[in-house]
Amino acid sequence: MMPPILPPKVLFICLGNICRSPTAEAVFRARAKSAGLDVIIDSAGTSGWHIGEPPDHRSIEAGEMRGYSFAGQASRKVIRADFAKFDYILAMDLKNAAALKKICPENYISRIGLFLDYVPQAKISEVPDPYYGDGDGFTKVLDLIEQASDGLIAALKQ
Ligand code: 4NP
Repeated sequence: MMPPILPPKVLFICLGNICRSPTAEAVFRARAKSAGLDVIIDSAGTSGWHIGEPPDHRSIEAGEMRGYSFAGQASRKVIRADFAKFDYILAMDLKNAAALKKICPENYISRIGLFLDYVPQAKISEVPDPYYGDGDGFTKVLDLIEQASDGLIAALKQ
């Protein structure tokens, strides 16, 4: 008997889990579905500053303009069990990747990466934090996350 093929599990990580990683969750969920890819998706923050809060209203507004749904999302902090559960733990920036590596059990370190590593020929490696900037930052976040989502879908389909 062949073992069952389990869907890959992807966890998106940022600092607050209210702007970038919820956007990644919403965008990747929609695009993976369109691509017919069965995948388990979640997001979390390296800080616990916004635990239980819905995504930032600016992220929701920018994302809904492009048809993405943030329904059911609430901020949570990454936990140790996440490293064993998720196959891909993708941080939005280097600081958050470093914070993950500090608390990750050694045998799961290779699961940690940068989401923008899935953008071929990317000029930047990090999704800039839009929290303290103007509204333009949220559109930029969406552009980058859409590209990375398509790159990750292509990688998972191989
Ligand atoms: P995120 O953005 O990491 O993309 O969710 C931030 C959200 C909140 C804060 C910083 C960044 N904060 O300082 O509260």
